[in-house]
Amino acid sequence: MNVVFFGAPGAGKGTQSALLARRKGLKHISTGELLRQALDEQTAVGIHIRSYMDRGSLVPDDLVIQMVNDALEGLGEGQGFVLDGFPRKVSQAEALSHQLAKMGLALDKSILLEVPRRVLIRRLLGRRVCQGCGVNYHIESHLPQKEGICDDCGDVVAQRPDDNEKAIEKRLEVYEESVKPLRGYFQKVNRFVIVDGMGDTEDVFTRILNVLE
Ligand code: AP5
Repeated sequence: MNVVFFGAPGAGKGTQSALLARRKGLKHISTGELLRQALDEQTAVGIHIRSYMDRGSLVPDDLVIQMVNDALEGLGEGQGFVLDGFPRKVSQAEALSHQLAKMGLALDKSILLEVPRRVLIRRLLGRRVCQGCGVNYHIESHLPQKEGICDDCGDVVAQRPDDNEKAIEKRLEVYEESVKPLRGYFQKVNRFVIVDGMGDTEDVFTRILNVLE
């Protein structure tokens, strides 16, 4: 099974992609995670992209497309994938289509997670992330048992640098600009569905499993 998740910042792409990948044995490819890894490792790419990410702008296409192509080429024999946060623009969707055709693969579903803006902002401002394993927490609904320490791996849990009001505003603006053309693209070429991203994480996951059946 090969699936793409797209949606606004805070819509739950990362949370749901991780659940789906675990449930179905898929490779979870998150461009946000891959880029943050490059930042942490202070690679040449990492140094170049810091200013884009910190202010909430999109990183240049060529870098992100190359990262995704490398990840796809690293898939195990017969392994499916879930793409989280890619594509975000029609140019990226076209590059993905080209790469999948080259590898003899196709998308089974492209899923748009929809959540109202006021909820997105609340989710993002309250999000805390484990610096070790990347698990998401939230100050209102899902705190680690020991303050600031991940339940799963014991590493530090902290706020993402781009989860501040200014960067969130910019990320939402970038999303609003890109979503309409991207949605139009997916409606034409792929099995496109909209899933309501409101409610408990488990309820959203059940909706996703239903549309994938
Ligand atoms: P990225 O890391 O992809 O960030 P984003 O798109 O802004 O999305 P988020 O990770 O903020 O939200 P999400 O939808 O994954 O929500 P989550 O599940 O975490 O990208 C970061 C940056 O990298 C971009 O700004 C850009 O610079 C660059 N980049 C990435 N991809 C790129 C690309 N393709 N091209 C160019 N540049 C790119 O949930 C959020 C919070 O809500 C969590 O606390 C979670 O616990 C909580 N939550 C989730 N679901 C629920 C629920 N149902 N109920 C209550 N709380 C919930």
